[in-house]
Amino acid sequence: MKIITFLNEKGGVGKTTMAGTIAAGLAILGHRVLMIDADPQGHLSLMYGIKKQHSLYDLLVRDAEFSDPGIVHALPPEVYAMPNAKQPTEGRLFIVPGNRETRLIAQALEGELFAVRRKMEELAEANVVDVVIFDTSPTPSALHGQIYVATQYIIYPSELSYLSLDGLVESIKSTTGYSKQKQEKGLEEIKLAGIIPTKFRPKVLEHQEKYQQLQGLRGFGHLVWHPIPLSVVWEESMARHRSIFSYAYDQPAASDAWQVVRAAKEKIIDV
Ligand SMILES: Nc1ncnc2c1ncn2[C@@H]1O[C@H](COP(=O)(O)OP(=O)(O)O)[C@@H](O)[C@H]1O
Ligand SMILES: [Mg+2]
Repeated sequence: MKIITFLNEKGGVGKTTMAGTIAAGLAILGHRVLMIDADPQGHLSLMYGIKKQHSLYDLLVRDAEFSDPGIVHALPPEVYAMPNAKQPTEGRLFIVPGNRETRLIAQALEGELFAVRRKMEELAEANVVDVVIFDTSPTPSALHGQIYVATQYIIYPSELSYLSLDGLVESIKSTTGYSKQKQEKGLEEIKLAGIIPTKFRPKVLEHQEKYQQLQGLRGFGHLVWHPIPLSVVWEESMARHRSIFSYAYDQPAASDAWQVVRAAKEKIIDV
């Protein structure tokens, strides 16, 4: 079971959009994918039209089971897969929703660094899910620390602005720090699997420059995935509670989305 976390200490950069999109793409490709909405804003839940609720809190703090009612929600293929898809696939898409109570998890579990990891181990043992995708809040919290302990891969969506790239460098540092701490405890490292430039405007000089700068970042250039251009379709699909593949499968945004899904499959799922 692969565990991936979407991270960026800046809000509005496309974390939730990319988490929900890559999860949908991997489900379409036949994987059993569980999304976990670990942002108290509950936007990943909203993205798929699931009511914000305290499922993640129940799972971690009240020690609910994944199989308890109201914890894991299965999404119907029409919200995430292409409407013209003929072949039924093995893939499934699930979500553990969250709400403002997610904010209280860190405090309730103070000192228990392994709570998320233990839940992930239970899930892996049950062999019901191939990929877990955490969407996180921009504000660092102790819950992030818990997720770090459990996660194997980080995907970093980032806008191509000066401040975003600064945030990226800071974030790479903290990921490296956590990764070292994990390895000192005998756990696996955390790999920065990819950086996704989001809201890219290819004709804007500033964006071109920042994109090149990112690709030239020493030691990290090879981690830069296909950029996702700015397009109103992303906002529209979110508002209609559909994945980009369900809402706009024949539009350029969906082709761009496939590029990042393929990168995730190649660099994370198939290794
Ligand atoms: N490539 C894009 N083009 C246009 N709008 C986008 C794009 N990616 C995301 N958005 C929109 O930007 C807003 C913030 O995205 P979101 O994924 O919620 O960011 P975050 O989770 O980092 O706060 C959402 O309304 C989303 O629909
Ligand atoms: Mg978000």
